[in-house]
Amino acid sequence: SNEELSSRIEAVRKQLGSRLMILGHHYQQDEVIKHSDLRGDSYQLSQMAAASSDCRYIVFCGVHFMAETADILANRPEKLEARGGERVTVVLPDMAAGCSMADMAAIEQVENAWQELGEVIDTSDITPVTYINSAASLKAFCGRHGGIVCTSSNARSVLEWSFARRKRVFFFPDQHLGRNTALKMGVTEEEMPVYDPYAGDLGGNSEAAISASRVILWKGHCSVHQMFRKEHVDQFRARIPGIKILVHPECPREVNDLADISGSTSKIIQTVEAAPAGTKWAIGTELHLVQRLKQEHPEQEIHFLSPVICMCATMYRIDLAHLCWSLEQIAAGTPSNVIRVDEQTTTESLVALSRMLEVK
Ligand code: 13P
Ligand code: SF4
Repeated sequence: SNEELSSRIEAVRKQLGSRLMILGHHYQQDEVIKHSDLRGDSYQLSQMAAASSDCRYIVFCGVHFMAETADILANRPEKLEARGGERVTVVLPDMAAGCSMADMAAIEQVENAWQELGEVIDTSDITPVTYINSAASLKAFCGRHGGIVCTSSNARSVLEWSFARRKRVFFFPDQHLGRNTALKMGVTEEEMPVYDPYAGDLGGNSEAAISASRVILWKGHCSVHQMFRKEHVDQFRARIPGIKILVHPECPREVNDLADISGSTSKIIQTVEAAPAGTKWAIGTELHLVQRLKQEHPEQEIHFLSPVICMCATMYRIDLAHLCWSLEQIAAGTPSNVIRVDEQTTTESLVALSRMLEVK
């Protein structure tokens, strides 16, 4: 039963004490996230992993790219040295907890695109920017080419940093976060061709379109957030006067343009927490987070923006049974589902991740 699993989880937490840190992303289900030591959005979770000092095990209740990032940051050279060479072991309770968006850009495709672009424009003029929702190999690519990582909470600062150095940006894998952020900075839709890795030469673009580009967007998206539509916003506004629309920037442009506020999961939470009683919201992000906000804020009126269920099936794979099993494996001295990024990828991706942490 859930109670039994919960008490077994708590027993391991007690046994390992400060040697164990459980991190939880805001999209995790309630019964799982209540066992986490710290929770946050992707940026905050990276900072937490980067700051970890006492712990020897990080159990990541989130998805694969987050655990990879934690492994890279928690085991960077200065941290390893401070721990006398001892590594932090990062565990993902279910290896099938991936991210469909991260899977939309493979390193071979990105390398190929870079080469193709280089035949039309000067790549030393382009900053490659990878959304943190990507494989470590893409972060390493950015490290090798003067690029940087961004999250949904710092995408604007990262684009500003990029434009201060070079005239163009190649943004992957999420076209929506790239487009929504750049539009707010005055870049036009015409200056943002979309590179489709399955569309043939130049990702389906003309040489003229690439030459005129300021931001080249990768044709990737989040399958959860792309389900929120303009009609949903229109319907809520017609039905509930005064309702405020609060969305994640992974939503498509039409939704973002109409929203009152757009931001990372933490910004969504902070916005609701700061609002007065009686505020009416329709929120466009993963279902579990919206349901939790609804429960925690009965003094406000909170609706889910879509009439159909939009949940992240891979985040949901982390359940009590997997969490309990992975913790007991650690306690038994045989950690399973260890996420370990190889040394070269770690070194190269650290360049791009450190730039991100410095920018904000
Ligand atoms: P943030 O928590 O950084 O806003 O990210 C949302 C998300 O989709 C994570 O996969
Ligand atoms: Fe990936 Fe979307 Fe799930 Fe986030 S919500 S982990 S972007 S599929």
